[in-house]
Amino acid sequence: MAITFHEQSREFHLTNGKISYIMEIMANGQMEHLYFGRAITDRESFHHLHEEEPRSLMAVNVPEPGTLSLEFARQEYPSYGTGDYRSPAVTVQQENGSRISAFTYVSHEIFPGKKSIAPLPSTYVEQDEEAETLEITLHDPLTDTDLVLSYTIYRDYPVVTRHARFFHMGKERIILDRALSASVEFSDMNFEMVQLSGAWSRERYVKNRKLEMGIQAIQSLRGASSSEQNPFLALKRPEATEQQGEVYGFSLVYSGSFLAQVEVNTHEMTRVMMGIQPETFSWELQAGESFQTPEVVMVYSGRGLNGMSQTFHRLYRTRLMRGEWRDKVRPILLNNWEATYFDFTEEKILAIAGKAKEAGAELFVLDDGWFGARNDDYRGLGDWYVNLEKLPDGIRGLSEKVEKLGLKFGLWVELEMVNKDSDLYRAHPDWVIGVPGRFESHSRHQHVLDYSRKEVVDAIYEMISREIRDARISYIKWDMNRYITEPFSRGGSPADQGKMMHRYILGVYDLYTRLTTEFPHILFESCASGGARFDPGMLAFAPQTWTSDDTDGAERVKIQYGTSMVYPLVSMGSHVSAVPNHQLYRKTPLDTRANVAYFGTFGYELDLNLLSDEEFEQVKDQIAFMKKYRNLIQLDGDFYRLQSPFEGNDAAWMVVSQDKSTALALFFQRLNKVNASWLRLRLTGLKEHARYRVCCSLDGAQKDNAQLDRVYGTCGLPRQRVLEAYGDELMYAGIVISRDDLNRKGGDFASLLYTIEEIKSGEA
Ligand code: DGJ
Repeated sequence: MAITFHEQSREFHLTNGKISYIMEIMANGQMEHLYFGRAITDRESFHHLHEEEPRSLMAVNVPEPGTLSLEFARQEYPSYGTGDYRSPAVTVQQENGSRISAFTYVSHEIFPGKKSIAPLPSTYVEQDEEAETLEITLHDPLTDTDLVLSYTIYRDYPVVTRHARFFHMGKERIILDRALSASVEFSDMNFEMVQLSGAWSRERYVKNRKLEMGIQAIQSLRGASSSEQNPFLALKRPEATEQQGEVYGFSLVYSGSFLAQVEVNTHEMTRVMMGIQPETFSWELQAGESFQTPEVVMVYSGRGLNGMSQTFHRLYRTRLMRGEWRDKVRPILLNNWEATYFDFTEEKILAIAGKAKEAGAELFVLDDGWFGARNDDYRGLGDWYVNLEKLPDGIRGLSEKVEKLGLKFGLWVELEMVNKDSDLYRAHPDWVIGVPGRFESHSRHQHVLDYSRKEVVDAIYEMISREIRDARISYIKWDMNRYITEPFSRGGSPADQGKMMHRYILGVYDLYTRLTTEFPHILFESCASGGARFDPGMLAFAPQTWTSDDTDGAERVKIQYGTSMVYPLVSMGSHVSAVPNHQLYRKTPLDTRANVAYFGTFGYELDLNLLSDEEFEQVKDQIAFMKKYRNLIQLDGDFYRLQSPFEGNDAAWMVVSQDKSTALALFFQRLNKVNASWLRLRLTGLKEHARYRVCCSLDGAQKDNAQLDRVYGTCGLPRQRVLEAYGDELMYAGIVISRDDLNRKGGDFASLLYTIEEIKSGEA
């Protein structure tokens, strides 16, 4: 791994043998991007990759007779107003109203390792040898402001991370109207843009579009990364698939409003930009003040979308997540939300927890409704003390009783919110975000606390940390159930208003930092009406996220498939819930509900007391199965998407152990078909010449489908499909899938789960 500066050509080459990222200092002193992609051999100069020609109408950025025009230069961090008419990465406003800036090279530093950018979350290294960092200092003389562009290349990953920092030294104040994290340019537009778009209960659906001239962007203006758009985009070559071809992934380590944009000019140059949403951002800097942007993680893959995702998965699991839970399999939990909603007593809770223990679960989570006057969602948020009418022995008493049952105890909180009907609001009406004199929009009857103010974060910290200290809490589900409207801080000056949205999220990170530092053993799961804040920023604090409020197994296939584009399986909260499903009223087979939930953290979201004996036995088997395979799924394995639920009736994915000796594959069909075509499942990631035993249990099916048993007779088909085959056959010829098996599994929304174990020599 090396970052080289070629003195003569004034070029930088970041490479680790997998990728190259090359830049030069242009004739006008600004930074130009020359190449990002598969590693190429280093040489003294790549200047020939700089393209420059005189063109009519272009603005020239160097003295006569030069022809350098920023309109046609691929820049590293473009600014507004000096001849480049595309969207800039930065706009600096001076006191006189000028919005022009030109940052030129001053110096650079190359050092081993990677610096933290706390309080912002970012990827990190454990040993300096894992990465090398380049910091390029640029200067704008008129405003007397330094801009430092940081680049880190990881030794073991095809990854470059970037962020920018501003240091203002001039006497005049300046305003950063726009300060994105990174800008990267490509010399052609032969790409498709992949994005993860959705809404509540259908988060992160995969969308593809061919790049067109002009701007194509996704964004959030909501104060949270949002379920509508995820802070991620990829550019893939049109011929790239899940398994092969070139893909570039860009992921922003940030949980607030963002912009991710691709602009193609009419000369077919493609500019990708990402960072804090400029629309709600305006950051004043006085002399001596600085500002740093969040981090963008850029991945190159020559192995298709799966190659990109596997890099994100490994990096985020091991070098973004942190804390005691990073390398641990996750407890199998039961959450009472869909079992009781607000309607519970201690007795009811203990009955549910007791049955969960009997089934083999390890953690019971008490969801919303345990505090203040919270008997519905109109009241109580903000009053973080237990409701003794529901829980006479408090959270402490309940947590002790749950622990006596042999389970760990977890608790739900929603610390950023307040209901107007609460003691907290009555005492501090000015702590709510909103513009005095204007209507305050409500959402789920609640309002957002102004976390841009330290006193608000302090007060919430005091209340909740007391409750946590007092009880026996092993897990916290940190929820957030509405977006920000009327963004205005009642505690702020006019200049503070442009900082409010970013400071809000810094306040959230601050509270997370305090709680995770004080209670390092607690497993945090972030949540935002399901997956409205499923982003890398959150994962740096909470190593798992509730993926979606949609708990239907069939819908989860799509949601988890899309989420896996960036996020590792261990980060996806995934539960089995009751039928008819509470969001869709669908009756997805229990077997499928579990088969899909296995590919995540796994748990239950229902009252197991209400299951039949047969179903309860099935649940016990499921929990035992997950205990056996969770290390593979959550920590060890590489995940491969095989067939997209967005492109057809069927979907498939698999996870393969590092040593390729064990794998699990899921095949799912949405609607059943009669007298239909043959089905094949081609696996991947196995050893070509190893022999494997492939098993697919049909147990759940027979119990689920007595009707069909009458047709076929219970002995008509085996209870388990077993196949022995070499890896190459499984990958290239594939497994024949029997439609009878799918019928027996319930037909619509049926799934087949295959365990694949290498047969070691000497074994029968
Ligand atoms: C939204 C979450 O996503 C649900 O799981 C549940 O915790 C509710 N909030 C509680 O209000």
